[in-house]
Amino acid sequence: MPLKRRILQRIGLFVLSFLGLIDRFFGSTYTGIDADVSRRDPYIGLKILRERGSLLRTYRFSGWLVLGFDEVQSVFKDKRFSSDMRKNRFISRLLRAGSEDGYVPTLDDPGILNLDPPDHTRIRKLVSPAFMRKYIASLEPRIREIVDDCLEDAGDALDIVNQLAKPLPAIVIAELLGLPRKDLPRFQQLSNELLGLTQLEDPEAQQTATIANKILIDYFADIIEQKRKSPGQDLICQLIDAEDEGDRLSAREMYSTCVLLLLAGHETTTRLISNGMYLLLNHPEQLARLQAEPELIPNAIEEILRFEPPVQLMPRFALEDMRFNGRPIKKNQMCLVSIASANRDENANPDPDVFDITRKDIKHVSFGYGIHLCLGLALARLEGKIAIEALLTRFPDMTLAKQELEWDTSLLVRGTSHLYVDTNLH
Ligand code: HEM
Repeated sequence: MPLKRRILQRIGLFVLSFLGLIDRFFGSTYTGIDADVSRRDPYIGLKILRERGSLLRTYRFSGWLVLGFDEVQSVFKDKRFSSDMRKNRFISRLLRAGSEDGYVPTLDDPGILNLDPPDHTRIRKLVSPAFMRKYIASLEPRIREIVDDCLEDAGDALDIVNQLAKPLPAIVIAELLGLPRKDLPRFQQLSNELLGLTQLEDPEAQQTATIANKILIDYFADIIEQKRKSPGQDLICQLIDAEDEGDRLSAREMYSTCVLLLLAGHETTTRLISNGMYLLLNHPEQLARLQAEPELIPNAIEEILRFEPPVQLMPRFALEDMRFNGRPIKKNQMCLVSIASANRDENANPDPDVFDITRKDIKHVSFGYGIHLCLGLALARLEGKIAIEALLTRFPDMTLAKQELEWDTSLLVRGTSHLYVDTNLH
């Protein structure tokens, strides 16, 4: 890395740790809870913070932390908040400083997740038809087949994460996009590396993520070229048609859309399935109830999403000076929107720290809210339902194996790198 960039990176990291110190003494988001404890259970700290207020000043990220359910929904639907990171100089500089050659995917090739209208509206309109409820429902038999294949060789022990929760959504999204099966293992690794983009304090992870992003963009450029020559019915071909029809999607937009779908399509659903099984195995009475009444599975999926949201946090940036919830938010300041906290807000769900698969009128923002509401929510729910149903049917006596769980280090997502169970088949 060039010397100038290395110096900038060091300065960036120093500023971050200095801001962390300021937060400790003057901010309102410092809880004193040990980082390892917080990684295992982030909800203890979030509860303490919610008791201090539903919108708190954080110096560490030079902005605000949004914790209450109503406030989170308000930020998600308020046009004065942007999803475009380029609007925030602090974050942009920090990300650029951490990059080997100054290239940062979220700034230079943002996907719809990081765009505002009108670009966001235009691209979302082109991608949405592929996620229509009716079409997604038609994938059910194929998803069942994939689940059966994944579980076919399961013996006495099973790692739910690596034998089912990871491969299933990866295969599904790869088939939706029309990608060759042989490329799957590489994708899974690259998409996992892409998550490093969210680790502001870890330049190495960011660098790995940037390289992964470049590899994926080149890969998609090749695939798109091939598909132009021999068109098919898959999502990439639909995007090519949309581009050809009215020049509405540039080539680079198409690549970044594909990368986003690949990432969003499986890093999240993997965590829904594995967090769900972890919760059920840790609550045997709930597990027994679900086995006795499998028709409760859709409700159980919503409760799992509420209780352990795979996406915990999303950033937004203020487009103007404003008063929000009685506090002065300055133009360009970042608001970290805590989905994890909103779902546990006692004003939204009574007894929020109780995991109850029969809970009525479950309120959660695990798929976001407003114009960026998750495009893949019907697919995620379907994959989650089929996977959990299959596990409960095939291994009715399954129990958690003894293990040290490794929870994600990124603040943005929540899941474990493995989840071993004893199938107790014999
Ligand atoms: C349990 C699984 C999933 C969870 C928890 C989840 C969560 C989310 C959340 C919270 C957002 C909103 C982000 C924001 O407001 O900034 C989002 C957006 C998005 N999700 Fe998902 N997602 C899941 C599965 C999927 C799947 C399977 C796909 C596609 C195959 C997908 C594609 C997308 C896309 C394209 C967006 C961006 C929408 C936009 O910006 O308009 N997601 N997701």
